[in-house]
Amino acid sequence: MTQAAPKQDHVLIFDTTLRDGEQSPGATMSHGEKLEIAALLDEMGVDIIEAGFPIASEGDFQAVSEIAKNSRNSVICGLSRANLNDIDRCWEAVKHAARPRIHTFIGTSPLHRDITALDQDAMVARIHDTVSHARNLCEDVQWSPMDATRTERDYLCRVVEAAIKAGATTINIPDTVGYTYPRESAELIAMLLERVPGADEIIFATHCHNDLGMATANSLAAVEAGARQIECTINGLGERAGNTALEEVVMALRVRNDILPYRTGIDTTKIMGISRMVAAVSGFPVQFNKAVVGKNAFAHESGIHQDGMLKNKETFEIMRPEDIGLAATNLVMGKHSGRAALRAKLSELGYELGDNQLKDVFVRFKALADRKKEVYDDDLIALMAEASLNDEDAYLQVRKLRVVCGTDGPQEAELTLSIGGVEKFIDATGDGPVDATFNAVKMLFEHEARLELYQVHAVTEGTDAQATVSVRLAQDGIVFTGQSSDTDTVVASAKAYVNALNRMVLHRHRGNLSALMSSAS
Ligand code: KIV
Ligand code: ZN
Repeated sequence: MTQAAPKQDHVLIFDTTLRDGEQSPGATMSHGEKLEIAALLDEMGVDIIEAGFPIASEGDFQAVSEIAKNSRNSVICGLSRANLNDIDRCWEAVKHAARPRIHTFIGTSPLHRDITALDQDAMVARIHDTVSHARNLCEDVQWSPMDATRTERDYLCRVVEAAIKAGATTINIPDTVGYTYPRESAELIAMLLERVPGADEIIFATHCHNDLGMATANSLAAVEAGARQIECTINGLGERAGNTALEEVVMALRVRNDILPYRTGIDTTKIMGISRMVAAVSGFPVQFNKAVVGKNAFAHESGIHQDGMLKNKETFEIMRPEDIGLAATNLVMGKHSGRAALRAKLSELGYELGDNQLKDVFVRFKALADRKKEVYDDDLIALMAEASLNDEDAYLQVRKLRVVCGTDGPQEAELTLSIGGVEKFIDATGDGPVDATFNAVKMLFEHEARLELYQVHAVTEGTDAQATVSVRLAQDGIVFTGQSSDTDTVVASAKAYVNALNRMVLHRHRGNLSALMSSAS
């Protein structure tokens, strides 16, 4: 097979953190959090932001509309199933953007054709009708054959041709279940470019899931074969093992430009800031040894490594921390540091704050510095995450907590919670201070969710270190995570628990996305 010539050297970055990422069980984000993330994605040079699935719920619709209205440079895209209602609703949300896009999809593999009860011909007809309808509304239409990598090759060519004829301007090839392999991923794109009439007029995209840990390799292989759009998420957030990680493909294209001569429009110095933001609001912490953005990605512990690094940084570093927006220094802040110093430090860490936000964060910083002699970068990052998680609009908020601990007898917690704006107080006992606190939360806000995970880790060293607490709750097979940091572990625990409950409340106000994804009409 001769490989079709790539069209240009620019690879478009399509970020789906707010759609495929947010679909991940437990990663539900609030309206405000979505808007903040979209603004950061736009600012960092993401070409296309998939802002949500407008038919899924009123909340999704509002978020996509608002993101579209606020967009500056990025194309704003919404997802819709292959039916006219979905597409109309999607258009209503994205039409406010300077550059709107409708993305419509249908499962084309034999398994999906069975579910939708459409035979091959009926599905081609549906693709024709829905894509032409979308194209009558919007000039920029993306179409995806879901589960493309498990679709018969001849049939895949046929459906892609039908979508192009109906007006699709981008064809996305999803590896929905993370099944493909780099050579196969490349061959698939090369085959479509070669066999499908009109393929050289449109952009091919690659959308990989990471079930076998090959999402980044599969995406890059597709680019080498001619795909010019990579679909990805920050931190690789996404269902099951997640999606291709934006930071990995972008940095691979940059660091190995010698063998991957393509460019993106991403300002890589914004990577760390948005990675932290997404970890905080999604409640999915980044694994320490995660490529590019993990806490240890630039840490050199061993003697040999440290010695090499001191002599020449290139000995063990293929990219510089500054390239991804990691501060090279770890200047310590304290209670005498002023507002200007805090602003400069936060900016170095990737957080650009407006005056009002700075005022608010400064108060929190001073309170922390009063309790903790030295405030390190990691403390500030935890503080910023805390500020974004415990927003004033949250349904449940911890107002006051007092625990009484003794060596004998049950521990006691006196808790005041604000529930939908009304303050409620209770006194509860338990087997230890955290158990007593959680019992108090459960008594004030009754729920069936089961505690699946409770984890504490120190942000920095020392007995005055802040603790970051992660809590995972599950109800009816749906997972809700919460996180919080404080120098007091019990306070952090209460806030993390309440944070997970807030996500559960938010989820109840939304439709069940996975049910929507598996029904085609
Ligand atoms: O993984 C997938 O197939 C998807 C499609 C909706 C593009 O996310
Ligand atoms: Zn996907």
